Amino acid sequence: LIHPVILCGGSGTRLWPLSRKSYPKQFSSLTGDTSLFQASALRLSGAAFAAPIVVTGSDFRFIVTEQLAQVEIAPAAILIEPQARNTAPAILAAALSLHAREPGALMLVAPSDHVIPDVAQFSAAVEAAAATARQGNLVTFGIRPDRAETGYGWLELSTQPDVDFAPVAQPLAQFVEKPDLATAQMMFEGGKHLWNAGIFLFSVDTLIAAFETYQPEMLEQTRAAVAQAELDLGFTRLAGEPWAALDDISIDYAVMEKAPNMSVVPYGGVWSDLGGWEAVWRDGNPDAQGVVTTGPATAIDCTDTLLRSESETLEVVGIGLKDIVVVAMPDAVLVAHKDRAQEVKTAVTALKAKG
Ligand code: GDD
Ligand code: MG
Repeated sequence: LIHPVILCGGSGTRLWPLSRKSYPKQFSSLTGDTSLFQASALRLSGAAFAAPIVVTGSDFRFIVTEQLAQVEIAPAAILIEPQARNTAPAILAAALSLHAREPGALMLVAPSDHVIPDVAQFSAAVEAAAATARQGNLVTFGIRPDRAETGYGWLELSTQPDVDFAPVAQPLAQFVEKPDLATAQMMFEGGKHLWNAGIFLFSVDTLIAAFETYQPEMLEQTRAAVAQAELDLGFTRLAGEPWAALDDISIDYAVMEKAPNMSVVPYGGVWSDLGGWEAVWRDGNPDAQGVVTTGPATAIDCTDTLLRSESETLEVVGIGLKDIVVVAMPDAVLVAHKDRAQEVKTAVTALKAKG
């Protein structure tokens, strides 16, 4: 069985005002009935999978249990991070606690905020990856890029991906996390790169060995945080003191850019990291004019625009807009140019400073 590890600690500030520090985007229903987190858990609940391990922050622990109960999934463990330290420590903590139970266990790391509607095709890619992971590789999943995106990691293949994008593992030549625009453009035009889906499969001993080589200090501290963890109402609370000393670094920079034993399985199905409003617009099936409306919203003579109301009693009307994003919450409204919607992240920081 493959052990899913679902990461849901990110605060998703690029989707403000819907996503808040107290209620990040993965717990909201952005495009469907279930939340992104629930959809992730359901996707990883088939016959090939063991019960999931969830890694999250203290603030979200009851949202996690409530949302899992709603979809009738019983977690194997819920690890609570004393503070967010990014994905490297979160993934390592899950690997160490799993390793204590089952040293050779296969672990699938999955973000909680992705849209992957085609479960069967996804499972085929996971199956191909499992065989490669058992041979001691860290396996990534590659998405066919459709733009020079700087917000993702890029995977360089040793050969051109085949035309039908079959889920067959191949060695990874190089991993480039969040390149600058010029580099992203070069990789996009070169045709030898795929996007990193942000989903990883490996055996826990392979991952721990990689940390031993590239992040020995982080391995020691995380080991201590796991060894001294406290059980608290069914949650596993990682120990605060060793955890506080950890660097804030993502798994991509900490390990994946450095390790030689990386391989990639192409994934040809629909995949989207709803990393910002532009992506939500793209994913919301824009009509012939490029308009997406959600909730009580009306667009008149608008093009390439997202109008979204998060309240039944809040009517949003756009007239003659082009390339605009409007998101109205009862207590906050965002109006932005679609190309600059990513900058809400900066706005959130500024708002916080204002108090
Ligand atoms: N538990 C926990 N703790 N989860 C975290 C933390 C943390 O401190 N930080 C982030 N996460 C979760 C997020 O909620 C998300 O589900 C996942 O880990 C990935 O974090 P992001 O912050 O969304 O990463 P990213 O999108 O910038 O980049 C990653 O994903 C891209 C694809 O979506 C990288 O792996 C890129 O290489 C990749 O292309
Ligand atoms: Mg992301």
